[in-house]
Amino acid sequence: IHVDWDAVTAEKGGFEHFMLKEIHEQPKAYRDTMRGRIDESGKKVVLPELKLTADQIKNIRNIQIIACGTAYHAGLVGRSAIESLVRIPVETDVASEYRYRSPIVTPETLVIVVSQSGETADTLAAMREAKANGAHVLAITNVVGSSIARDADDVIVTLAGPEIAVASTKAYTSQLIAFYLLALYLAEVRGTQTPEAVAQIVAAMQALPEQVESMLAKPDAIKAYAEHISKHEHLFFIGRGLDYAVAQEGSLKLKEISYIHSEAYAAGELKHGTLALIEEGIPVIALATQEAVLEKTVSNIKEVNARGADIMAITHEENVAGLLKSVDQAFAIPKTLPLLTPALSVVPLQLLSYYASLARGNDVDKPRNLAKSVTVE
Ligand code: AGP
Repeated sequence: IHVDWDAVTAEKGGFEHFMLKEIHEQPKAYRDTMRGRIDESGKKVVLPELKLTADQIKNIRNIQIIACGTAYHAGLVGRSAIESLVRIPVETDVASEYRYRSPIVTPETLVIVVSQSGETADTLAAMREAKANGAHVLAITNVVGSSIARDADDVIVTLAGPEIAVASTKAYTSQLIAFYLLALYLAEVRGTQTPEAVAQIVAAMQALPEQVESMLAKPDAIKAYAEHISKHEHLFFIGRGLDYAVAQEGSLKLKEISYIHSEAYAAGELKHGTLALIEEGIPVIALATQEAVLEKTVSNIKEVNARGADIMAITHEENVAGLLKSVDQAFAIPKTLPLLTPALSVVPLQLLSYYASLARGNDVDKPRNLAKSVTVE
């Protein structure tokens, strides 16, 4: 027998594209990033790699998270995690803005830079600016020997493994895991959460890999929807709170590889202008996973429904029947704690971009005009 073989095909491990392979590697990436960072009792986070002392942690007055693109979107979720669990004020900024806006940094400022490659020029420059101003810099990166890892005071390595596709997937979700671990650790040191509350979140985190696997096993509904939207040129994502953070990542992913123009909007902001663009048949993807603001999101969904939008909701099973009164279809994701939901809700959006790109005949792994690592300004 003759077997066609080449190194790239072998590296794709049976998947048609690196992106799909990397989407499927997420359960492993979650487990690897958590491994060794949860103590033996399974109830507490330990980050032995940190040089940051308990005293330094107790003295932190504010946190600035700096990153680009998808890593910035992880930083938006990181902000919620730290603010809600640790109650320290956090700002998240894109590096190319941060570096030129004379940010206010003090020795009590913790700066967290997030970068898959650890080589992004703007993130590196922003980090040097923060260090020069006296901040302690902690890097969350996927590449151990990278420039950002070398220059930072502290490093949390995401163990996603090499990411080849230009569109970031497993690096993003591993960054979320790193942020959850860091937020829990800061909460333990500062005593802002009870041990029971920490243990509950840790247990929910450990269930995430299997929950992702369950979604990856059933891609057909998302694939069919991707083929549907692939015929459109404009699309909107809406959501509130963490759903808005994930909407921004979903929108970037879709633009990047399908070339469909899309915008992510905070659902409550629509009526301040963007609602004028909603017309008959325009696809709107509504993320409705955050129970605390569900009613509010539903009222925004009704606003776009009234203008004839073609709406797909991403929500939990128990909300599907109710939402189907105002949306055209709904996709249910597994249930976890609201704070952890981005680690699940982003997965259907990654698959959506992948299949939309495929349906349009694009080069999924190497989209036009983009480089995997942006090492120039
Ligand atoms: C993600 O899909 C993008 N390709 C891009 O936004 C990327 O996340 C950004 O360039 C930052 O890269 P980094 O994480 O390597 O710093």
